[in-house]
Amino acid sequence: MLSDYTPDEIRALLDIAARLKDERRRGIPHPLLQGKTLGMIFEKSSTRTRVSFEAGMIQLGGSALFLSKHELQIGRGEPVEDTARVLSRYLDGIMIRTFEQEKVETLARFSSIPVINGLTDFAHPCQVIADLLTIRERKGGLEGRALCYIGDGNNMANSLIVGGIKTGMAVRVACPAAYRPDAGIMAWARENGDFLCTQDVRAAAAGADVLYTDVWASMGQEDEAEARREIFAGYQINAAALEAAAPGAMVLHCLPAHRGEEITAQVMEAHADEIFDEAENRLHAHKAILVYLMA
Ligand code: CP
Ligand code: NVA
Repeated sequence: MLSDYTPDEIRALLDIAARLKDERRRGIPHPLLQGKTLGMIFEKSSTRTRVSFEAGMIQLGGSALFLSKHELQIGRGEPVEDTARVLSRYLDGIMIRTFEQEKVETLARFSSIPVINGLTDFAHPCQVIADLLTIRERKGGLEGRALCYIGDGNNMANSLIVGGIKTGMAVRVACPAAYRPDAGIMAWARENGDFLCTQDVRAAAAGADVLYTDVWASMGQEDEAEARREIFAGYQINAAALEAAAPGAMVLHCLPAHRGEEITAQVMEAHADEIFDEAENRLHAHKAILVYLMA
């Protein structure tokens, strides 16, 4: 879990990612995982996570298996405890995207190989490593920078709070009262850093170096999408939020984006360089995670 990583370990991951990115730019091969295989279990859709982990394994000289729940016995009820013990005998690492955080933790407990959380309803830690890399590249560092998250207090918000506070950023969250991030994470953030959660978007955005948002309805919440459009109206990165932020503030979005909901089309296009750099950095961040855990 990202919460188990020390600030030094997070910085080490970012340094590896930066090095791998530079080597890739310069065409220097880095076959650090030759002969190794990553299994990628997906119980939800994915573009970025799936393709970047798979391409990343190939670039590192290893291979990756895409394991959809429709093809695994796990989809027919085979216990995760058994799946973990079987896959551990074939593979060198597992990445899983699923609903319940508990499932990832059970998988990790019963596996004898590293297990990577590729998103649960509770957390999206790999995304945050890419986000921190992007902020560090563009703002020259993380310590003392202010990150404002606007929208649903979901998996993205939870992981950004942990990653932001651990790297010395001030973290401000603007969300409706009933959609706050995890209470335990917020209590930890208040004790360990500069953290604010408010319903006031402008107050959260004031002076921020980074504005961040995510969809109002996450995967698995499709039935609530219409109701959420009303509840979250106003929790948007738009011209007014940018005006409140620091001059030159950057805008990030984990993607996929819903233009006209959590972000306006204008802001999205004006900050496309940052947002697609962020998406590119998934590749470099994931390669760093793989090397850190599997090399
Ligand atoms: N941001 C992110 O995780 O994208 P995917 O759902 O496409 O993997
Ligand atoms: N909160 C979103 C993130 C997608 C990358 C979801 O869980 O669907």
